[in-house]
Formats: sequence, structure tokens, C-alpha cells
Amino acid sequence: MSALSLVSMADLDRDDILGIFHLADAFKEVAERPIPKVPALRGKTVATMFFEASTRTRLSFETAAKRLSADVMSFSASTSSLEKGESLRDTIETIDAMGIDAMVVRHKSSGVPAQVRAWTKASVINGGDGQHEHPTQALLDCYTIREALAARAGDDLGPEDLQGLRIGIVGDIRHSRVARSDVLAMTALGAEVVLVGPRTLLPPSLEGWPVKATVDLDSVLGDLDVVYLLRIQRERAESALLPSLDEYHWRWGLTRDRAARLSERTLVMHPGPMNRGVEIAPEAADLPASLITRQVKNGVLIRMAVLFHLLGAPGPGLIDVPDVPEATGEQGPSGLGDGGQGSRLVRESAGA
Ligand code: CP
Repeated sequence: MSALSLVSMADLDRDDILGIFHLADAFKEVAERPIPKVPALRGKTVATMFFEASTRTRLSFETAAKRLSADVMSFSASTSSLEKGESLRDTIETIDAMGIDAMVVRHKSSGVPAQVRAWTKASVINGGDGQHEHPTQALLDCYTIREALAARAGDDLGPEDLQGLRIGIVGDIRHSRVARSDVLAMTALGAEVVLVGPRTLLPPSLEGWPVKATVDLDSVLGDLDVVYLLRIQRERAESALLPSLDEYHWRWGLTRDRAARLSERTLVMHPGPMNRGVEIAPEAADLPASLITRQVKNGVLIRMAVLFHLLGAPGPGLIDVPDVPEATGEQGPSGLGDGGQGSRLVRESAGA
């Protein structure tokens, strides 16, 4: 038995990403219905396995699964038998034995979702692992940029990808799973990415990264179409990687002054949770060009698309998206296709 999984953005090429966006576009109409629910994953069970704190990722996966009529099993490490010394492997195999179709795994250690694939027959989705990756965050980020460009063009479809766009990712790149996944996704879609931050928080080498890097935010700010700010963890200042959070704010934060100098066309993004007053001034977070709330809203659509892609019935292909039936009445499973045959999403053998 095998299951499709999504552990890294490296598993997806441009066409896979655009296929997921097309599914999300189809689900946008569902979200606007009085009852925003379809029977696409009726009979499937999704377990959210969070071994580290989360607001956005956990709740948006759970909302996405429920909107697709899947059952949701919510695991929380702090109230589980891990507290009694049960191992990670035994925990995963216990949940697997209950009969589930997908596990969304968040863990503070890099590599745990990849390891979990060997312990379950279910699909595994990386909900953020250590300093490695956060692929659904990158998908929702790129989808949100594409949507903002479409709205600006007054065109529902907008650009197909991010070709020619200049995106600055600012902050603690070295320790950021979001930055790692975003670089892969944004460059796969044709964007130019520049990494900005203190030298101590940039990657020690850019070998293999199709990006540029600078320590001088003001030298690139005026050229950016998107400013993407990363959360600065307070322990970075405590561990001497930063002089102080105040100095970080003045040198690398989107301060009120820098925000005032931005073109009104420059989009402002942040994955959350934000430290207002550190990487972003409160006024900057609330600018009309800020997409931060939109990122959260689109997170549900993208996670619906990913769950459907992994668990939905075989069909004619990702891009061929027929109408989505309402969840009411006695309709069978949605006719949405998953395109799994041609996908580069990872197909793993259980127990491998
Ligand atoms: N962006 C993100 O992963 O947020 P949470 O930690 O709240 O899930």
C-alpha cells in the first residue's frame, strides 16, 4: 500500500504548484457559499499531529479538512501519552492503527515528517519541521501574491506564475523553515529572491540557493515588489546572534519610516505569528498593501487543495477542475480530479 505525501517544496515542480493553485481557485467559490462545505473527502480521516505550538497551520488544516467533509482527529503532544514516556514511533503507529488517511505533522525537529512516512500507511503532510521546511506556508504565500497581482490587474485570472517579480525575504533566514520553502516555491515560479538580514542570520553559504543576499535592507527596499518579513525569535538576541531586538528593528525591521517610503504597489507579507515592534512596526502590518490576513484566509484554500490532491478520488488531472458540488443532498464524492498519476508529489511505500 502506498500514499502520496508532501514533505518538501522540492517535491513539487512549477506545474504541480500551479495545479494546486487551480484547485484552490475552485475551492474559493466553495468558501463563499452559505454552507462552505463539499463532500469531496467524505469517509476520509485527517489527523493533525502537532508536537509544537501552532495557531494558523493547525486550525486551517482542520478547517480545510472539515470543509471537504473529512473527519478530523486532533492530537496534542502536551495532553498525550508522550507525557508518560511513549515514543514518537509508538505514538504514530498507535494513531495509524485507528485507521486514518492523512497525518499533518508539526515538530520542532527537522526531518520528523520524512521519518513518520516510514511508520504509517497514511499520507504525510509537513506542517513545519524544525529549521527544514513548511511547504504549505510557501504554497499559500505564492498563491496570495498571485491573487494580489490579479486583483491589481482587475483580472480574475491574473498572472499564471511569479515571473520577473522581485521578492525580498527579510530576517532570520538561517533558522527559518518558511524561508527555505519560500525560496524553493518562489524561484520555481520565476521570481527573483533576495535574502536580507544580519550576517549572523544569513545562510553561511548560498551554494545551491538560486538567490542573492545582502545585509543592507535600504539598498534593495525600493526595488522590491514584495517585502516578506520573518519572525525574529527572542532567543536569537539572547544567544548573541543579534545585538538587541531594538537594533534589529532599526536596521532590518519594516519601521514606520521604511513603510512610508514603500511604493503603494509594494506588497507586505509575514507568515505569522508577528512580533510587532521587532521585525514589523504596527503601522506597517496594518497598511492597505499588507497581505498578512489574506495569507491566513488563503491558507484554508491551499490546505483544502493539498488534502484533495493527496486524498481525492483519481480523476482527469489537476488542471481540469469541474464544478464542485454542494455538501448538501446525496451527491457522491466530488468529481474533482487529483492528477496523481503525473504528480511529482512523493509516493512512498509504507514501512519502507
Ligand atoms: N505561519 C505559521 O506556521 O503559523 P503557526 O505557527 O501559528 O501555525
